[in-house]
Amino acid sequence: MNTPHATSVPLSSTLTLLGNISAQQFLDEYWQKKPLLIRNALPKNFAPLTNKEILTLAGYDEAESRLVLLYNDKTNDKTNDKTDDEWTIDHGPFTAADIRELKKNKAAAWTVLIQDTQHFSFEAHALLALFNFLPQTRVDDLMVSYAVKGGGVGPHVDSYDVFLCQGSGQRRWQISAQQDLSLKPNMPLKILNNFQPDSEWLLDEGDMLYLPPAYAHHGIAETNDCVTWSVGFRAPSHQELLEAWLDDLRDTLQIVGRAQDKNRTATNQTNHAAIDAELRANIQQVLTTAMTPQLSDAAFKSFTGRYLSQAKSHVTFDAPDEKLSLAQFTKRAIKDGLTLDLRSRMLYDDDSIYINGERLQLKPHALFVQFANMRQLDKTILKSASSKVFESLYAQWARGYWQFTI
Ligand code: SIN
Ligand code: CO
Repeated sequence: MNTPHATSVPLSSTLTLLGNISAQQFLDEYWQKKPLLIRNALPKNFAPLTNKEILTLAGYDEAESRLVLLYNDKTNDKTNDKTDDEWTIDHGPFTAADIRELKKNKAAAWTVLIQDTQHFSFEAHALLALFNFLPQTRVDDLMVSYAVKGGGVGPHVDSYDVFLCQGSGQRRWQISAQQDLSLKPNMPLKILNNFQPDSEWLLDEGDMLYLPPAYAHHGIAETNDCVTWSVGFRAPSHQELLEAWLDDLRDTLQIVGRAQDKNRTATNQTNHAAIDAELRANIQQVLTTAMTPQLSDAAFKSFTGRYLSQAKSHVTFDAPDEKLSLAQFTKRAIKDGLTLDLRSRMLYDDDSIYINGERLQLKPHALFVQFANMRQLDKTILKSASSKVFESLYAQWARGYWQFTI
């Protein structure tokens, strides 16, 4: 797949992303608690993708894109007889011709939204890296929206923490601490029924608004070419955790044996429909014994690492096109260095490495820890690596989990 050519804006971690407060102050006072507006959090040209690249990305099969159209009396078309807000949502990909049609349509304000832009751009990862005062395990994605004047997705709440970073153009954000989160019925999107904003700001390029989960908000594009980058941090719901754990057990648990009743007492017409107490006790004992090891610290440690490092469900990794021997791979890795695939999720704990849902014993642990943190292994480190290390690196390179640095 052709990755859109990315603009190269150097983003440095010395940026005053949080204004004049420290990361710890932000976490203590705002994180998961209350909104924070930071003017000039980012340089004006921070955008990982140009506007043209964003619209090109909306045409990719691999990118998850949506189009939200808003018909209302604020749009320019006076022949439009709809007076109330009316929303439609469509799922991509959207071709260049689709976008050209949209640009001609004056009856509706539109927004294209694309999830997981970090799967397509190293610069998107560089933007995410500015938030490394929060652990990778909480990062969900970097979403981008591109809207024409008047566009937006309506007043709503999200179930995640979000940093809304204004790219090109201007967006008005209205927010509300309201507790009434009831939704308008029969809408294709989740729109709040009774949104009562208590604050509002006009965000310019480089400004950023942090919102905790379930905080009501509404963003309205005030200009054409209005681009907003949403850095989303998601914590799994308890229900999601339970379902993932049960799925994991279903995939890994196996027990042999079958209930026996060699010493049965005869039943008769008056009691043969009764549930057999002996069989019930046997079921309880068999299942409890099977579950006990699954409730150990070691089992939860492994599950947690594999669960948190799982790639998004639509992501598949392909073997690289070039076929190299281990010796050729080693030579090339030392020459170029290695970089994680844009879609790889690599995490670690004190003795294991977890990548894309798998637990791997890769040694030396410290080298792979560095790979997970930096998303790169540079040439100088690789120069002194052992042949065992290259065997491991080769095996996962062949599965598409990382590539040579370009
Ligand atoms: C947008 O960028 O239009 C919507 C982002 C959000 O409200 O979460
Ligand atoms: Co939102």
